[in-house]
Amino acid sequence: MKKTLFCVLVVMLMVCCAQADGVRLVEASDMHLLSRQLVEDENTLLRILRGADGKVTHYTPEICRAFVDKMLEEKPDAVLLSGDLTLNGSHESHRELIDILTPLKAAGIPVLVIPGNHDETGLSYRFTLEGAVPIEGMDEQEFKAAYADFGYNDARSRDESTFSYMYEVTPQVWVLAVDVNSVTPWGSVPTDTLAWIEGQLQAAQQAGAQVIGMTHQNLMVHFSMFTFGYQLNNARQLQELYDKYGVHLNLSGHLHLQHIAENGGVTEITTSALAVWPQHYGVITVEDGVAAYQAVPLDVAAWAEKEGITDHNLLDFSDYSARFFDDTTTGKQADRMQAIEANEEIKARMLDFVRIFNRSQFAGYLVEPIDMEELALWEEHMPSAFFTYYMSMFPKDGATDFRQATVRLN
Ligand SMILES: [Fe+2]
Ligand SMILES: [Fe+2]
Repeated sequence: MKKTLFCVLVVMLMVCCAQADGVRLVEASDMHLLSRQLVEDENTLLRILRGADGKVTHYTPEICRAFVDKMLEEKPDAVLLSGDLTLNGSHESHRELIDILTPLKAAGIPVLVIPGNHDETGLSYRFTLEGAVPIEGMDEQEFKAAYADFGYNDARSRDESTFSYMYEVTPQVWVLAVDVNSVTPWGSVPTDTLAWIEGQLQAAQQAGAQVIGMTHQNLMVHFSMFTFGYQLNNARQLQELYDKYGVHLNLSGHLHLQHIAENGGVTEITTSALAVWPQHYGVITVEDGVAAYQAVPLDVAAWAEKEGITDHNLLDFSDYSARFFDDTTTGKQADRMQAIEANEEIKARMLDFVRIFNRSQFAGYLVEPIDMEELALWEEHMPSAFFTYYMSMFPKDGATDFRQATVRLN
């Protein structure tokens, strides 16, 4: 009897320990929420969106609501939002997002945000019959006040000059949130912030905690054509601190593409924009000093059905969002193709190639079989087009899957 009781206690202890060690984080990026209060004329907005990168901006309030609903169900240990929270930093969009996020806090799920380059420029837009009309947007101080309860106020330490902070998710897993967008010119970690980061990494080392970094812009160059404005201006200095104190994982966004890069002992994962098909968020499970990352597509349609929404686009959202993405990709190219001398069959093949190619790049995996030989059509007929150069930069086999990674944190 005593032996049985002992075994039960050992099993209970093992289960307890396993739960204590397992930490589940969710990262989402670039939701670019636009409040409908700013959309007086939807056609104006849609016309502008057709020339953009495929963000389903007109449905971002629903995407964010579906995401929060999913998080309330999943109950991760923390939700990380790595910037570009709004389309262009309007007070209305920020207020709406804060309203949407508040139930997470009420449920005891910490939400850790940092600003992106679109969140606090002081300039925003209203979409009217006359076009996009400039209006005042949030500035750095207003952002800090509005989002103080989303990470910054509850942090174990806060940087004075930016919205950077160190947050203890558990005694073993800390998140270093690094903001480079509250400084002018934006894009660099200030010198005093670097000194504060070093102090924090020393403290983590002494406490035996594993640190996961979070930035909006990228620590690394993911593609050689996306460098200036994409990578942190002084990324080398932050990477040196990561190397010195054993930070092995950085989570970021900004690119809008799902991607993974490595430099030395650091892995950087850019989670693709929540506003863009396939509406990815990243789930990071930390167990026994190893972080397992998996990008997951948000099921907006399931949320819409649960809410009793009758909008057909929302009820079939994955398909709608994919088609919207395709239309922005091919629409722009079809306009440019009018000037080239090629028959309609060749043009159709070129458009189909670019459609699959661009979907795959944003989603981080090959979404359908693609014949890379078709790139030759672009090189022949549109040699100086942006897309020809863009496509020539990427791996030809398209075989790599950037939706998952395993990173040892110590
Ligand atoms: Fe963005
Ligand atoms: Fe950005």
